[in-house]
Amino acid sequence: MKAQPLRPQVPTTVRPMPPSARICTPQNSGVPPASPGEFKPLQIGRLRLDTPVVLAPMAGVTNYPFRSLCREYGAGLFVSEMITARGFLLGNRLTAKLAAIHPGEHPRSIQIYGSDPKDLGEMVARLVDEGIDHIDINFGCPVPKVTRQGGGSAIPAKPRLVARLVRAMVASAQEVPVTVKMRTGIDPQTLTHLEAGRAAQEEGAAAVGLHARTASQLYSGDADWEAIRQLKQALRIPVLGNGDVFECWDALRMLRETGCDGVIVGRGCLGRPWLFGEFVSVFSGEEPAAPPNLGGVLDVMENHGQRLTELFGEELGVRQMRKWTSWYLRGFRGAAGVRAQLSRLGAMDEMRPLVTPLGLDQPFPLQALRASRAKGSRTQRVKLPEGYLDDLDDDTPPKGPHTADEIRAWEKALGAG
Ligand SMILES: Cc1cc2nc3c(=O)[nH]c(=O)nc-3n(C[C@H](O)[C@H](O)[C@H](O)COP(=O)(O)O)c2cc1C
Repeated sequence: MKAQPLRPQVPTTVRPMPPSARICTPQNSGVPPASPGEFKPLQIGRLRLDTPVVLAPMAGVTNYPFRSLCREYGAGLFVSEMITARGFLLGNRLTAKLAAIHPGEHPRSIQIYGSDPKDLGEMVARLVDEGIDHIDINFGCPVPKVTRQGGGSAIPAKPRLVARLVRAMVASAQEVPVTVKMRTGIDPQTLTHLEAGRAAQEEGAAAVGLHARTASQLYSGDADWEAIRQLKQALRIPVLGNGDVFECWDALRMLRETGCDGVIVGRGCLGRPWLFGEFVSVFSGEEPAAPPNLGGVLDVMENHGQRLTELFGEELGVRQMRKWTSWYLRGFRGAAGVRAQLSRLGAMDEMRPLVTPLGLDQPFPLQALRASRAKGSRTQRVKLPEGYLDDLDDDTPPKGPHTADEIRAWEKALGAG
């Protein structure tokens, strides 16, 4: 089936809420919107973002269809899902599609996964030639297949290795800002963010994003905003705080409590792209619009589905849409009853007949604001190479995947991270 042309604009007909009717959880009921001049625009190298909000890189999530949807609601920086340097350099077709720069997507931001300085430098040079505006490197991946080799979230334990990899990227980046995204450490005994942040700064990183959890925590428990505050105090370059921004008010609280320069938003926007409109409102000093009712959510789902079809084709687009349906419908009355059918969705036009009987005038459910949409509450014992922590001054790059088959297996594992 050929996709219909995209609707030109995401619906923005909702009116701002009066403060008394604010839809938020109790912890945010008294949080005031930004006052004039309270927050500076976020400056990442030569990029200036008036709303200091970044869509987190999320594998299998922040592809062009979702990024473009979020961007139409709001403003900020919208980072791609992680692109493996080796896959990119080998010319893997899907990787190339995910890394492509789309007309009108500006600023265009990409996250790279890689641990070979040569690969990183080469990939950055190619992206710069293609017109990229921002490059992020993933030093936070907690997946065992990756950390077992000393990659991902194991890298920040070795500041000289961080320095070597950042140096290789910055050397090829010309004026394009390079940022680093990392966690607080491997586990509570091995916190690494301060040393790694300093190393990145000294090599010319334009900002550091901190997911304020250790790799052993995965996504469990509360993010440690105090660690964000410490990192901000330790560095001269901007610090982007990350972890547990589920409501627009959380972003203001994070900036106020930690002094960080911007926030990175991950799980909170899964199935809630309008959150980016809410950020623009509260950073402009206004109450945000109410979230859409079920009818409005269904319109957004169809819009999103159309974008997925445009990029990936009907079959892969529908397969991708299945997971989104449960995120969009989280908390709505009756949604659990149609979840199984939606998880077997065979065509985009099956969504409306399944969702409509739930009552399209249902208001957006309060309990959905902080509901867990992905990753759960597991913890792990982080797998590292034998003796990995014995020599923290070692800057030998870890082994990564090399052949096309290795890359495929690797990317599958990363998608789960
Ligand atoms: C589905 C999913 C995929 C993710 N993929 C990546 C990734 O590719 N690169 C990365 O740096 N972080 C990835 N993350 C972590 C997020 O970028 C973010 O750091 C984390 O979710 C914490 O932020 P949050 O509390 O706002 O969700 C992923 C998270 C989720 C939920």
